[in-house]
Amino acid sequence: MNRYTEPKYRTILDAKENEPEQLQEKSASSTWKPAYHIHPGYGLLNDPNGLAYFNGEFHVFYQWYPFGAIHGMKHWAHVKSADLVDWERLPTALVPVEEYESHGAYSGASIEIDGELYLYYTGNIKYNAEERSANQCLAIMDKDGNIRKHENNPIIEGVPAGYTGHVRDPKVFKKNDTYYMLLGAQRTNLTGAIIVYESSNARDWTFKGELDLDLNLPESCYMLECPDYFELNGQDVLVVSPQGLEAEEHTYQNLYNVIYVLGEMDIENLTFKVGSHHELDKGFDFYAPQTFEGKNKERLLFGWAGMGEMDYPSDKEEWAHCLTIPRKLDIVDGKLVQKPARELKKLRKQAESAELRLYRESKVLCSDCEQYELEITLDAIESDTFGIELFSSEKEGLVLKFNRAEKAVTLNRENFEEKFGGEYGYERSSELEIGDAVNIQIFVDRSIAEIFINDGEVVFTSRVFPMKESTGIKVFADGSLDCRYTKYPLMGKNSL
Ligand code: FRU
Repeated sequence: MNRYTEPKYRTILDAKENEPEQLQEKSASSTWKPAYHIHPGYGLLNDPNGLAYFNGEFHVFYQWYPFGAIHGMKHWAHVKSADLVDWERLPTALVPVEEYESHGAYSGASIEIDGELYLYYTGNIKYNAEERSANQCLAIMDKDGNIRKHENNPIIEGVPAGYTGHVRDPKVFKKNDTYYMLLGAQRTNLTGAIIVYESSNARDWTFKGELDLDLNLPESCYMLECPDYFELNGQDVLVVSPQGLEAEEHTYQNLYNVIYVLGEMDIENLTFKVGSHHELDKGFDFYAPQTFEGKNKERLLFGWAGMGEMDYPSDKEEWAHCLTIPRKLDIVDGKLVQKPARELKKLRKQAESAELRLYRESKVLCSDCEQYELEITLDAIESDTFGIELFSSEKEGLVLKFNRAEKAVTLNRENFEEKFGGEYGYERSSELEIGDAVNIQIFVDRSIAEIFINDGEVVFTSRVFPMKESTGIKVFADGSLDCRYTKYPLMGKNSL
């Protein structure tokens, strides 16, 4: 095999003297680096990987390219925490130095087996700029945190007949004494699929076939990335990141999307009977999420708060992206809802609460809020349009606007000096039945806002890159409403 070379395919082991320190230095003074979100010290972060509560600690790995804000040789970076709040950076977990992972240790998930954490990932192989293949690989972390790549890697070499080199992102689970691996794949007719391998020991795998998943996705869907599967409240849930969907009103407005599917999985017979499926997050920057079982067996999720093929203002500081906060998933009224993990309450500092009434006006709730949680209830609403402006200043603002007549809520991020991603539009929206009251929970952290509406029924995850003075919060209404809120400044313990 001819090894395809390009400068972006070097590992951290090839760093020049002081190169990492210089990169870290370049972003150290950034006012956009999140304080409590997991982010790279330098370089580019994308998908969360290998998430686990293992041996009394939370482990988060993520896709990481060290040498700038581009997608190059992907490593697995590693952070851990006892409480989902205070994160400690550990040495890079997977550095792709082997032939079977010659162009990156791509995404994957973990499962605990006999007291060890099995980390499955994809060894990406590139022959040239266009042609590629993929190997599935295993690394094992023991209780002391030592990570070793499996001696028989790759555990699955190449891709099965009928699929292109785009086969990746293993998710392994166990059912009735058999291990199953889901992989995102592309058929040779260039449409997306999920394929399945099985194993009795989690190390030796055989190809089982394609999952029959009747989602009615359009032919334009050319790839399904990062499949995830779990049971929740007695239902089977599949979360997957399709590429190539067409935007519709209120849905699939980003270049790449994430959907969840509720239904019934019969993995032995390779079927997933679809009950319903929806887009998971309505914001600008959300992709490739992964879930895992938390300390109390609850289902937690981290997503990549970013989007591919787009330049971000922090690129010039040699770092890009962060993960979302951890979110707890539940199924309510046939919908998957996301709420901030309750552990995040530990970040709260002194609460400040107030009540106010608005009548055809806007009011400032705060003028210097950088990293905070805001719980706000808008009640007795007699307004057609109303909402909240975050990162607000004379010149800037992220506008969340509810529109009763249109039964919709929109988020607009056009109004920033450092606006970006305009080629994909500056507004995102969701359908929403608006009654007399709306509750909203918001997490803001310097360059990210995560907005949970009506107990997580609608969620917007979005990055913005404000000027230093854009730290205000405003509420507005074209009619009347009552506003009650509690605001907590949040600690920024995170020194990643
Ligand atoms: C999703 C993805 C995965 C792949 C990884 C590479 O964002 O494209 O399919 O494994 O990123 O970094």
